[in-house]
Amino acid sequence: QLTEYQFPKGFWWGSAASGPQTEGRIENDGKGDSMWDYWYKEAPEKFFNQVGPEKTSQVYQKYQEDIQLMKATGHTTFRTSIQWSRLIPDGVGAVNPKAVAFYNDYIDDMIANGIEPFMNLYHFDMPMALQEKGGWLNRETVDAYVTFAKTCFELFGDRVKKWFTHNEPIVPVEAGYLYQFHYPLEINLKHAVQVGYHEMLASAKAIAAYHGMKLGGEIGIILNLTPSYPRDETNPADVKAAVIADAFFNRSFLDPSVKGEFPVELVELLKEIDHLPVYEEEDLVIIKENTVDLLGINYYQPRRVKAKETPIDHTNGPMPEDYFDTYEMPGRKMNPYRGWEIYEKGIYDILTNVRENYGNIRCYISENGMGVEGEERFINEKGEIEDDYRIDFVKDHLKYVHQAITEGANCQGYHMWTCMDNWSWNNAYKNRYGFISVNLAEDGKRTIKKSGHWFKQISSQNGFND
Ligand code: BG6
Repeated sequence: QLTEYQFPKGFWWGSAASGPQTEGRIENDGKGDSMWDYWYKEAPEKFFNQVGPEKTSQVYQKYQEDIQLMKATGHTTFRTSIQWSRLIPDGVGAVNPKAVAFYNDYIDDMIANGIEPFMNLYHFDMPMALQEKGGWLNRETVDAYVTFAKTCFELFGDRVKKWFTHNEPIVPVEAGYLYQFHYPLEINLKHAVQVGYHEMLASAKAIAAYHGMKLGGEIGIILNLTPSYPRDETNPADVKAAVIADAFFNRSFLDPSVKGEFPVELVELLKEIDHLPVYEEEDLVIIKENTVDLLGINYYQPRRVKAKETPIDHTNGPMPEDYFDTYEMPGRKMNPYRGWEIYEKGIYDILTNVRENYGNIRCYISENGMGVEGEERFINEKGEIEDDYRIDFVKDHLKYVHQAITEGANCQGYHMWTCMDNWSWNNAYKNRYGFISVNLAEDGKRTIKKSGHWFKQISSQNGFND
């Protein structure tokens, strides 16, 4: 045992990002518009400092440099996503040869540098041509997605051995159809439920296709699991509220992905308010039979829940918040630079829940990280960001991951969000998360932060001392 917190042999160290948040666009790259490209053109003022998805961190041009930086920061693995609208510009139909060449080179270069690529297929980036026909609301999108998935497996599956069907599939549901922070900016629970259902069906069908192709790798899903803690564990109304919040936002995808079944609590509630999705009986068999091999867990902060006290606006019909209130727990620890709660033990609670209630499925931490607004203020005289707060954040979470593993959790790795500062949707470059900074004023110049050097050390020792 080299260190006090030593991780199992072969533990994956790395970080996560996504195609739409990092690649950017150049002229004649053949990429089609995603809904983000479209929305930015329509309403640039909705994006922080009006920075849109066309530029991002220029990974399309700089991936070779970036892979060297991943190496320098101790990455053994790295997750990104294939942009559907880059590979198949209209969502269905012709494949863009320049995209094939780019992803081939990107993947090959990672492997040549000892970094195992983990590839995700959908990270909030619906091709606009499909969004115009309803996106995930339209059942035809499920088939289009499965064709896209199969195309990816055929093109890159000889080298990519870890695949994921979605990143945080609850986000398109809540952001696009409940709380209006992603396109198409609706408030409509019925649509939200249908969108989530189609994403889930698409995931199961892609898993079936992947397994059928016998490419010798594994396929999973990445879920943002946000533990719901009741205000008072001895108050049944608070506990019930937390159970419902958990069913809506965690178990809606966790249960069908791992167990092949939707949670009874959620199905009954939706039935009561006549909000079950339109489905076909055989879909349920597909979902039942095609569960994941591997589960990615994104964890940022918990949800603090109490029984419903305040009435809500029903102009747009029922909402999940009819059943619970969230509240700011007094005394909670906050990230002062992003306004999110920090509760390190949450990561342990999730891993323990997965161990006890989800068959201890093989899993890993696929995102965890600390956003910082105005991070330039921490630059030292050498031009490096001294992000000790991030080192503490990662370390404090890793201690709980270590404890969960010691108690038997089947957790295989840790990926921080993110490798280098990237474009975060409407927040653009407001909150920085990377091991490596990106200076937008200097054509995206990269500099490793203190945390990046620290991560290299823990990766090479496969652990750390307090
Ligand atoms: C994660 C998403 O939940 O949060 C990322 O998977 C996103 O895509 C990240 O960039 C950070 O969000 P924000 O709002 O702090 O920039």
